[in-house]
Formats: sequence, C-alpha cells, structure tokens
Amino acid sequence: MKSTIPGGFLVAGLLAALPAWAAEEMPEREQAAKEAASALMKELGGELKQAMKEGGPPEAVKVCTQKAPRITARLSRERGWQVTRVSNDFRNPLLGMPDPWEQEVLKEFESRAEEGESLKGMGYGEVVNEPEGKFYRYMQAIPTQEMCVACHGPEDQLDPTVRETLQERYPHDRATGFQPGDLRGAFSIKQPVEE
Ligand code: HEC
Repeated sequence: MKSTIPGGFLVAGLLAALPAWAAEEMPEREQAAKEAASALMKELGGELKQAMKEGGPPEAVKVCTQKAPRITARLSRERGWQVTRVSNDFRNPLLGMPDPWEQEVLKEFESRAEEGESLKGMGYGEVVNEPEGKFYRYMQAIPTQEMCVACHGPEDQLDPTVRETLQERYPHDRATGFQPGDLRGAFSIKQPVEE
C-alpha cells in the first residue's frame, strides 16, 4: 500500500531512513504479529462458539463485550504491544474506533477483497512515523462468519432480545448489516521501534 501516514511522510522514504537492522527485523515482527492475531482470533472464536451453544446470542453478547477486551488487554500486557479490535463500522466507539492509519488499511483490505483476495490471513504491516515516535503497526482482517450475524447481521433479522440489548447498550451501533464473508473489522497491533 502506498499511503501517506499521519506525520505526512511517505512510507517508502521512512523505510529508507531506518537503520539496516531495523528493516531486517520487520519480517520477524510481522510473523510475531500475525501469530498473535491468529491466536486471538482462535481464542475469541472458540469462546463465542461455546457461549452461543450454551446460552445463545444473549449469553454470547458477554463474550464480545467483556471477554474480547479482556483477552486483548491480556495479550497487550504479555507482549508489550498495543492489541485492539477495530472496524470502520464499529459498535463500541471507545474501543472499536479506528485511527486514520487503521481506517486506510481497512479500506485497503476492502479493495483487496473486491479484487478477489481471500480475507482469511489477509494482513498488512509497516513502520509508521508518528508524533510520539516510530511504530511497527500490523493489522489482520477479521472476516464475518456465520455465527457472527446473530449480532452483526441485518438489524431486522436479529433476535428481538439481542436487538433490544444492543440498542440499549450501544445506541450509536454501526456494526449491523453484515453478511458472512464481509470484512467485519481487524485486529490491530502496534509496537514501538527503538532506534
Ligand atoms: C452475541 C452477540 C455477538 C456475536 C455473536 C458476535 N459479536 Fe462482535 N460484538 C458484539 C458486541 C456487543 C460488540 C461490542 C463490544 C464492545 O463493547 O467492545 C462487538 C464488537 C465486535 C468487534 C469490535 C469492533 C466494533 O464493532 O466495535 C469486532 C471486530 C467483532 N465484534 C467481531 C465479531 C466477529 C468476527 C464475530 C463472529 C466470529 C462476532 N463479532 C460475533 C456482539 C457480538
């Protein structure tokens, strides 16, 4: 992706300015970020599936509301990175709202999907120069699965109890109307790059 980053620098120029060791380290960082995102996806998916089986969507709401932020917070502490879930159509504005870099990458994921690339394993990482310093940033696409539409599908198809709960808790909800196979959002990982 050829993107202008918040600082206004061109990414290619930034990479050229990095010391050689830092550039060499990126494939390793990408691999580690990819693995963390996949582990997160698996853990969340498993928790959701079980909650859906045991108590249906009303029970599973708790997984997406309470467990997901807890799991991302734990991963952040363990790894020393910032790990979040974001979407251009977010449900929770506090936790799910993407920053400008994330918005661009999400749009790029949409175009890559439109061109026929599978969302499974779709990711993107680069070094970004921000006012606070240099960061390695990585995002991994989250595809909408069959079980997600119970809470992220078209509003008129949601179970009435779920719809009510969502309307009560998230009056500014934008995360409905998804179909299986749509891009639901992405895991976003940010780590400082020390010089
Ligand atoms: C039982 C209801 C429910 C199901 C099923 C569900 N979600 Fe969610 N989802 C929520 C709720 C509630 C939130 C808001 C969580 C919060 O407050 O941070 C959310 C938030 C998210 C977010 C964070 C971005 C945002 O919109 O705020 C992503 C990404 C997400 N869900 C993906 C999925 C995926 C992928 C699936 C299927 C594997 C799924 N969800 C299934 C209820 C659900």
